[in-house]
Amino acid sequence: MQFPKKDILDMASLSAEEIMLILNTAENMKEISERPIKKVPTLRGKTVILLFYEPSTRTRLSFDIAAKRLSADSLSISAGTSSVVKGETLIDTAKNLEAMNPDMIVIRHSSAGVPHMLAGRVKASIINAGDGMHAHPSQALLDMLTVRQNKKTLEGLKIAIIGDISHSRVARSNINGFTKMGSSVVLAGPPTMIPMGIETMGATVTYSVDEAISDADVIMMLRIQKERLKSFSFSTEREYAITYGLSADRMKQAKPDVLIMHPGPLNRGVEISPEVADGPFSIILDQVTNGVAVRMALFYLLSGGVKNADDN
Ligand code: CP
Repeated sequence: MQFPKKDILDMASLSAEEIMLILNTAENMKEISERPIKKVPTLRGKTVILLFYEPSTRTRLSFDIAAKRLSADSLSISAGTSSVVKGETLIDTAKNLEAMNPDMIVIRHSSAGVPHMLAGRVKASIINAGDGMHAHPSQALLDMLTVRQNKKTLEGLKIAIIGDISHSRVARSNINGFTKMGSSVVLAGPPTMIPMGIETMGATVTYSVDEAISDADVIMMLRIQKERLKSFSFSTEREYAITYGLSADRMKQAKPDVLIMHPGPLNRGVEISPEVADGPFSIILDQVTNGVAVRMALFYLLSGGVKNADDN
């Protein structure tokens, strides 16, 4: 199966078959990162621009590493060091990038819909690296790859996503992705951080963390996105940690083979205790490792790659 999309904008627009193709391709890409010389010539001559209007450690660096491991030329600009600070609009910035003929543009922006808008205006493939509270598709794909690696399937799993759901593009993309692949998703957190009507995406909601984790195969903790909060939705971080955080004590209620995930960055001692984040059930750093493989797969497939498409 050849990848039929020009852009990767959100999980909602990917079919289960396309998600499977991306995960299988990423599985094949992992081995490249384990070689002494971590580089293949596959995308030699291709140009990737990383355009980040919001801070990032994991996503930006792993897209950059992914491009380099495939021998693409990757160039990175952030809003603060670009002509955005001189008042240039996003559209003008995009037109100027387009004039340099890149093959792919990876964009993170605080406004939902920006990658979709760019996708309709430039010839280059657009990859959404996070747009406002809307979508973060490469995060959901790396999360699914990490779960599948550990559980061998996504079918029939129960995924508990806990914390600040309202502001989380990671939660929305994971609800879309996991439910499409046959998992069920339960959301838990403070009532002020769970948006009305989120059930229409296919998830169930509880306000009890204990209930959500009791039969979960995967517990994904989310940080409180203070940068997006207009007002505080809880009294203190200590109270939040006690009521909604994942502690070693609360873990006693979880299944013995549960997986603990977090997209990062962690707020240690708030949504997750250090013992749990660094403990035996945590696959948080595996998520980061798999982020490189997933992003290599996205670059490869958007560039027309078909090798290993129907493997696994
Ligand atoms: N998970 C994630 O998007 O992390 P960064 O903000 O560091 O990219």
